[in-house]
Amino acid sequence: MCGIVAAVTQRNIINFLLKSIQKLEYRGYDSSGLALINSNNHLIRIRSVGKVNELIKKTKNKKLFGKIGVAHTRWATHGRVSKENTHPHVSSHITIVHNGIINNSLELRLFLEKKGYIFNSDTDTEVIVHLIHWEQKKTGKSLLEAVYNSLIKLNGNYSMVIMDTNNISKLIAVCSGSPLVIGLGSKENFIASDQIALLNVTKRFIYLKEGDIAIIKPEKIKIFNKKYLIVNRKIIHSNLKYEHSKKGKYKYYMEKEIYEQPMSIENTIKNYLKNNTSIYFKKLGKKEKNIFLHLEHIQIVACGTSYHAAMVSKYWFESLANIPCDVEVASEFSSRKLVVRKKSYFITLSQSGETADTLIALRIAKKLNYLGNLAISNMPNSSLVQESDTFLLTHAGIEIGVASTKSFTTQLIVLLMLVTKIISIKQKKNQIEKKIIKILTILPNTIKNFFEKNKEIKNIAKKLSNKKNMLFLGRGIQYPIAMEGALKVKEISYIHAEAYPSGELKHGPLALIDSNMPVIIIAPKNSLIEKTKKNIQEIDARGGVIYILSDEEINISKNIKILKMPYIDEIVAPIFYIIPLQLLAYYIALSKGTNIDQPRNLAKSVTVE
Ligand code: G6P
Repeated sequence: MCGIVAAVTQRNIINFLLKSIQKLEYRGYDSSGLALINSNNHLIRIRSVGKVNELIKKTKNKKLFGKIGVAHTRWATHGRVSKENTHPHVSSHITIVHNGIINNSLELRLFLEKKGYIFNSDTDTEVIVHLIHWEQKKTGKSLLEAVYNSLIKLNGNYSMVIMDTNNISKLIAVCSGSPLVIGLGSKENFIASDQIALLNVTKRFIYLKEGDIAIIKPEKIKIFNKKYLIVNRKIIHSNLKYEHSKKGKYKYYMEKEIYEQPMSIENTIKNYLKNNTSIYFKKLGKKEKNIFLHLEHIQIVACGTSYHAAMVSKYWFESLANIPCDVEVASEFSSRKLVVRKKSYFITLSQSGETADTLIALRIAKKLNYLGNLAISNMPNSSLVQESDTFLLTHAGIEIGVASTKSFTTQLIVLLMLVTKIISIKQKKNQIEKKIIKILTILPNTIKNFFEKNKEIKNIAKKLSNKKNMLFLGRGIQYPIAMEGALKVKEISYIHAEAYPSGELKHGPLALIDSNMPVIIIAPKNSLIEKTKKNIQEIDARGGVIYILSDEEINISKNIKILKMPYIDEIVAPIFYIIPLQLLAYYIALSKGTNIDQPRNLAKSVTVE
């Protein structure tokens, strides 16, 4: 949540700051701002409500110059969206950009007001910058010590970058509960919330660890850990390319990411195959093998789209592996007294690996009696990955659209491969493994061919784009797919969409059915289809507008529209059936003209509880 970029260099960095902060808009886009120290050692601060484009407009024709600077894109928490609340915040010679939440900000604000500080915003960030200023004024010590002494008084999670007009050769970065990465250049160094913002200037990165404070100069970096001891952190060479973060021929990132799925699925499968004949997780060693052999229960925790992927895997764990599996939304998991099942293994799922709710759930689980824990994430250096016993990556590539698509399908691939591996270990034979590898290998091509149907989906989308409500129905393993389909529509087109298990319709939602209520039914030909047909009849009899996704001819009524799906093996059907729903949501939003990659009020990486 919120994006931070900063640089200390020997050249003018205005274009770098603007370009890079735009790359972080996926983290929040309520307002944005930047601050530079110019050649006269004066602070230049420009802030704007709205997307980074508004900030760019404000900087045009201003001939801005600065070798050191900070920038920020905001997702509002403390204080409404306004110019006053937009970062950077300033206290005399100190400037700050901050990501996170300070829980005791009210108390500190009252204290600082008594000391004579005048507040210009409602943010908790302004509390931090005045506190640092007060600490330095009080002790007369260095800015670093003032920062350190202030941190002791803060309660919450934060990452921040501090700039001082009295010392224009360095920046101070603090990382606690929210990620910060240092990009290493030649006689210049950079800081950002995500390496994606720095790919156009470097390939070498240092990820700060929880509690780290770094002094960043153009030629030198010094990092202190939470005990205030100097530490060396590993330099990572990234193989991500700047081009990977571009839209290419597509109008929106979400469109690009939907159409990239055959490739990201294939990459993920290949990554975990050995000689194309067996599943091999390099990261999982003897310890995990032993856990898999003995585990009797799986607990999965996640949020949003990742939660839906976890829900699908519950059906796989139970129906294929015979292992009881519970799935819970992370914020709920950490909001109640927990009873840990016997021999239970804890799994978290998160595209970003930074979702605060999921991280907190992991921290709670680590104190409980689980056999161990595993994170499934798309981000190799994320907090979740670092804090977990072990991890598996989804290899989806950079995902920028706020509405998750390729992360979801690659999470499903990893989960299915994990279920399969556990079965092989428990049963000490690999027939199922061989069968599932075969099914998985043909999936990317089936999806690629299916994209030819996108015209049909576009036509349905046009008919649905003026609707106020929609219902999505699924049965069994397709119920979480209905949930994910409804979530996609809600997120990017703002149509109120709900998902129900098909069989639950008669227990309430049937009352909503009329000619204005489109009902999307996911009904692949399987052992449940006859039951679903009955539900379809019930809706048809009440004048509902029905769209069915199925590989079976369903001739119930002329009013029913069928999107004919090709045959797909039942096991991977959920991975396949989400594709038309993602496309449907995308084309509905396109018809409505919403900002698909940056839907209102949302952010891709939610680092606050
Ligand atoms: C946010 C995003 C969703 C995402 C959820 C979980 O709400 O807008 O698209 O599914 O976070 O994110 P994670 O990174 O933990 O998968």
